[in-house]
Amino acid sequence: MSVAGPGHGGGSSASEMPPLVRPPRPQQHPEPRPTPRDEHTVTQPLPFERPVPAAAEPLVEVAAEATLGPTGRPMPVFPEPTPLTEHGGARVISMCNQKGGVGKTTTTINLGASLAELGRKVLLVDFDPQGSLSVGLGLNPHEMDLTVYNLLMDREVGLDEVVVPSGIAGMDLLPSNIDLSAAEVQLVHEVAREQTLQRVLAPALEHYDVVLIDCQPSLGLLTVNALTASDGVIVPLECEYFALRGVALLKTTIDKVRERLNPKLEIDGVLGTMFDGRTLHSREVMERLVSAWGDKVFHTVIRRTVKFSDATVAGEPITSYASSSTGADAYRQLAKEVLTRWPAE
Ligand SMILES: Nc1ncnc2c1ncn2[C@@H]1O[C@H](COP(=O)(O)OP(=O)(O)OP(=O)(O)O)[C@@H](O)[C@H]1O
Ligand SMILES: [Mg+2]
Repeated sequence: MSVAGPGHGGGSSASEMPPLVRPPRPQQHPEPRPTPRDEHTVTQPLPFERPVPAAAEPLVEVAAEATLGPTGRPMPVFPEPTPLTEHGGARVISMCNQKGGVGKTTTTINLGASLAELGRKVLLVDFDPQGSLSVGLGLNPHEMDLTVYNLLMDREVGLDEVVVPSGIAGMDLLPSNIDLSAAEVQLVHEVAREQTLQRVLAPALEHYDVVLIDCQPSLGLLTVNALTASDGVIVPLECEYFALRGVALLKTTIDKVRERLNPKLEIDGVLGTMFDGRTLHSREVMERLVSAWGDKVFHTVIRRTVKFSDATVAGEPITSYASSSTGADAYRQLAKEVLTRWPAE
């Protein structure tokens, strides 16, 4: 390999040494280009810089091409949502995937906080006995007075006794802890056991614009309760090889709940999480997601970053913990995208 410029030729033989004063470059020796073999050894994540044909192509075309999103489809610009003058008539959404660790809780916290930033009144429901949503908002699971468990099992307990502020303006929380695991067993003996959450959430709908339910990683009775209480489902899917495993079962469960318990239930969208655009693997999984779910896949994709774990430890959403991070921006964009999919408020 030749060395460009003087002073770098130490290890080369005299015949390969460049002259001290470089003569004008001869035409027959143009700038060394990578050979086809070289090109294959360079890992380029995406062809971000495409050659722009000289002047002929109109500028708008170039701009449109530049906005290809991480899902491989052109990235739309999501409009700023109109401010609300009054609240109520909440849309209830379950964050659902029986696979663990795919970003359900992270999405519940951060989508909720982003919707609250847009002036929506948000209620988060921790419907997982692990209580990660409550812990992720800074609550101590051992110091909870009343939880969703009491709300489900004790008719004397009212919603307003259980709701606590989340620490984010405009966003409240129905907390849970391990007590909720008993509800799964006890509900089996209840009349209309699948509609219990729907019944206890009903008084909240007139106060909030959005209710987000963080489901546990299972398709058991608690999750069926969440789906029965919901208008829509968001399915977070980690962008890794096994992501699509089990999705058929999830879809069957959603279809059954729609047929038998809740005809209005819709899949609002499928959200790619923990995406790493530098790896071919993530991009391939994204391609498969789009070919399996089509337009249901959100254009917004959540990239992998340690900031999410840091925010959980800090007990707050990433939108306040690292407000200008790419993770925070992604969830703000998701909030706008979600609002474009929902029926007009
Ligand atoms: N985009 C991301 N990049 C990196 N880490 C993430 C991302 N999203 C979530 N995490 C981390 O991955 C872990 C699992 O996320 P999360 O708790 O949201 O998943 P989950 O689906 O709710 O899990 P479970 O099924 O156990 O309830 C957490 O430690 C979280 O901080
Ligand atoms: Mg969770």
